[in-house]
Amino acid sequence: MAPEQVDAPAAPPSALAVTPEPSSAVVPVRDTINSSLAVVDPVPSVRDELAAQLGGGSSPFASIEELGDRLTGAAPVVAVIGPSGADPTQLAAVAALVNRFPMVGCILVTEQVTTSLLQQALRAGVRDVVAIHSGPAVLAEAVQRVSASVEHAIVTVTAPGGTTAPNGPGPAHGPSEGHPDAAASGPPHRGSVVTVFSPKGGSGTSVVATSLAVALAERSTRPVCIVDADLQFGDVAVLLKLAPHHTIVDAVASIDRLDAAMLESLLVTHEPSGLRVLPAPLEPAYADQVGASDLVRILGILREICDYVVVDTPSYLNDVVLSILDESDSVELVAGLDIPSVKNLKVTLQTLRLLEVPEEKLHLVLNRADSKVKLDVAEVERALHFEARSQIPSDVVVPQSVNRGEPVVTHAPRSGVAKAITALADHYVAPRASRTRRRR
Ligand SMILES: Nc1ncnc2c1ncn2[C@@H]1O[C@H](COP(=O)(O)OP(=O)(O)OP(=O)(O)O)[C@@H](O)[C@H]1O
Ligand SMILES: [Mg+2]
Repeated sequence: MAPEQVDAPAAPPSALAVTPEPSSAVVPVRDTINSSLAVVDPVPSVRDELAAQLGGGSSPFASIEELGDRLTGAAPVVAVIGPSGADPTQLAAVAALVNRFPMVGCILVTEQVTTSLLQQALRAGVRDVVAIHSGPAVLAEAVQRVSASVEHAIVTVTAPGGTTAPNGPGPAHGPSEGHPDAAASGPPHRGSVVTVFSPKGGSGTSVVATSLAVALAERSTRPVCIVDADLQFGDVAVLLKLAPHHTIVDAVASIDRLDAAMLESLLVTHEPSGLRVLPAPLEPAYADQVGASDLVRILGILREICDYVVVDTPSYLNDVVLSILDESDSVELVAGLDIPSVKNLKVTLQTLRLLEVPEEKLHLVLNRADSKVKLDVAEVERALHFEARSQIPSDVVVPQSVNRGEPVVTHAPRSGVAKAITALADHYVAPRASRTRRRR
């Protein structure tokens, strides 16, 4: 096969296909992307299986080196590497390939996705790791995501004259280089970080954070992301009924080489709203692996990609949470109408004042504000010397929406709770005249 056969994204799939044509039931992934598609494995039957999963239109290669020999370096390529790639020598070959050809986005398909393999693969510059038994739909989604991110990276570095300079997941690249804004002459895009925090557990922080994020995602022209920074018991993925393949731990495992394209490949999309999600670790034991500086770095990269980055937090102050609060443009402080809630919030406000966190960015959200519990809103505001800018009523639609894994703003849009959270979103971005939204 001639080199240009791989490096010709505009060519019709039939020009590249030398693998068996798939059955009509399989989605032809190649038709949905602008990158060329390569399948790499020394075992012909494995190559055939991967090619069939992709629906044809891919070019087969027996080794990563053979693929490298055929590339000329001008056009985006997605390389789907078979299980033989899950080996230190092969991963070293991948690292060399992506350093030499940054427009190649590699996906490793393995028997089993373990945390340690994922870590090694991401460090080598692999964009995603998928289990071979996950099926064609999961592989297709990964190919489309990786294709979009390599195309992004190429746009980033295409000079006005049209020459393309190396860019991508090489270790020398800084955090801003993976996004188109980095190549623009002006300053990089800087989205807002909106953190939702309560110093008392069970106050409704996650309910408010997820619904606010969904409301913002439905209105914003650029992507909106929610980061679950409740590192031990985060439940954002559950509240949005998502089954994530990656979590914040995977981003931290590659923190030294993390860029916008790599971070984007770790996000899961809440399809109904287009909200991007960086989930919390799947087990509390992994929480220790995520430090304050990691969160600051991740938020910095997400700002470049997103209009809004909403952060859900645990109900305590530690160095990670304090760094997030410091990094935030706005903080929605959630409290209920009960003495412990008010007491804890008062202590929190004192701490934040001591740390010289600007008061203008703090906002009070009273949740279950209509509860008949002998404390009223005015008393709480007096005790805190703070006026509530949002009051959310108590309503059974909230636990109902939680149990359905659907945010209350879409589950019960006419409820008082949804209206209050929508009004909270109005403070950030005006409602759109039409309901068209941009998905990533
Ligand atoms: N306005 C409301 N009306 C009725 N129920 C509510 C309301 N807000 C929250 N809840 C209920 O309170 C429970 C706790 O909410 P949520 O998980 O958002 O709190 P949290 O502050 O994030 O808690 P944690 O400290 O565990 O992270 C949820 O199961 C939800 O059903
Ligand atoms: Mg929570």
